Amino acid sequence: MTSRYFKPATFLQTIFILALTLGVQVKAAYSPVRSYQGSTFFDKWDFYGDVDNTTWGNVTYLTREAAASTNLAYINSAGNAIMKVDNTTTIAPAALVHRNSIRITSQDTYGTGNIIIIDALHIPYGCSVWPSFWMFGIGPMPQGGEIDVIEAINDMSNNQYALHTAGSCSHVGNNNQTGNTLSTDCSQGSGCTVAENKPNSFGAGFGQAGGGVFATQIDVSGVYFWFWNRPDIPADIKSATSTSTIDPSNWGIPSASYPLACNYSQNFAPQQLVFTTTLCGVWAGVPGIYQATCPGGGSGPDSCATENVIGPGSPKFDNAYWEVAYVKTYIAAGSQPGAPSASGAVASIPSSSSSPLATGSASGSSGSSGSSSPNAGVRMKTGYEMVLGMLTGAVLMGMVL
Ligand SMILES: *[C@@H]1O[C@H](CO)[C@@H](O)[C@H](O)[C@H]1NC(C)=O
Ligand SMILES: *[C@@H]1O[C@H](CO)[C@@H](O)[C@H](O)[C@H]1NC(C)=O
Ligand SMILES: *[C@@H]1O[C@H](CO)[C@@H](O)[C@H](O)[C@H]1NC(C)=O
Ligand SMILES: *[C@@H]1O[C@H](CO)[C@@H](O)[C@H](O)[C@H]1NC(C)=O
Ligand SMILES: *[C@@H]1O[C@H](CO)[C@@H](O)[C@H](O)[C@H]1NC(C)=O
Repeated sequence: MTSRYFKPATFLQTIFILALTLGVQVKAAYSPVRSYQGSTFFDKWDFYGDVDNTTWGNVTYLTREAAASTNLAYINSAGNAIMKVDNTTTIAPAALVHRNSIRITSQDTYGTGNIIIIDALHIPYGCSVWPSFWMFGIGPMPQGGEIDVIEAINDMSNNQYALHTAGSCSHVGNNNQTGNTLSTDCSQGSGCTVAENKPNSFGAGFGQAGGGVFATQIDVSGVYFWFWNRPDIPADIKSATSTSTIDPSNWGIPSASYPLACNYSQNFAPQQLVFTTTLCGVWAGVPGIYQATCPGGGSGPDSCATENVIGPGSPKFDNAYWEVAYVKTYIAAGSQPGAPSASGAVASIPSSSSSPLATGSASGSSGSSGSSSPNAGVRMKTGYEMVLGMLTGAVLMGMVL
């Protein structure tokens, strides 16, 4: 029997559905900020144009012009960005040698409220090769903090995630992650590190499997990393358009979860994205470390450089190249560049209402000079908490009637 009068039950159902809809929107809404892709991939990056004077590898990072004229940075016929180590030059023995390579830094900065997605088909690998896709805060390292998304060396087969902070900050235990925590103190030399457990996250296997996608969520509560081989990429990422939103709560358990036992904005300045490929240097070239995955390598203090960098470039560096389909950046609903962010933190993140976390600046606008100071603010509820609150409210109301 129908009534032409307004029925309380229907009204409540409407509220319930509305709450669900709103909740899902709050939870889901990470909107596109920028897509570095195709013919314009290199437009919003700066080329380093100097020797590696930060990790002391035996490379010279070319300027944009030199990179283009030597064909070490270009867009291939598939529309993907290639960044490679020179494999066409024979380098004569000398006391100090540098092989040409590429380091680029984004002009945009990113912070809490942002998600950064990279789809790559090939990551550089081989003895002496040290590639990284990472982020660092403006200012001398590691004062501005550092977030390492893709980083491994020599013949390692698994990717390693890391955070670096100047001040005391640790990777707290009981993480809902699929990777293995290797070290928990983010202020020590290697940072706080987590090893990827899924197959084909680095090395020859990565390219042979068709590459994959890494996603990094920077939230007021911490930093979260996911990796998928190509067949497992979530639908919202795989079928993303220039306007569609993405929703990390559908992505499953992160590979590395870093709920932080420190104040994010005090430890991380707005972050610039960086691609580097160096050779040897203070990680890949350390004698004991070099020998560990490059058997047969000499144990001399400079064996990595003398056995690899010197001599012909091919075939040693034929696999020392990035092939990147895109880097896409997103921002949480309600976040304004420089304003506190409402985040869609994944459901697994413990509510941090008991720990005093403040929001940092949610950047992602173009051309930031990096002078924008971290913007303190009140931590807003996560989407998950909002959904939970609304559902509980609706259910309670339904029970009352
Ligand atoms: C590296 O070289 C660049 C360009 O010359 C310079 O601006 C920068 O300060 C140097 N960095 C270090 C750590 O020496
Ligand atoms: C490689 O670079 C390091 C750091 O600059 C340097 O100490 C070393 O001598 C170099 N090795 C060669 C063979 O050029
Ligand atoms: C350099 O490596 C590429 C693959 O990255 C390969 O196609 C090319 O033949 C190599 N160059 C030389 C001179 O061997
Ligand atoms: C871990 O995260 C997944 C995916 O977000 C979630 O379904 C699961 O309940 C979480 N587990 C714990 C113990 O928090
Ligand atoms: C976190 O650090 C920022 C920047 O120094 C500061 O403004 C804010 O009050 C801190 N938050 C808490 C809860 O200590």
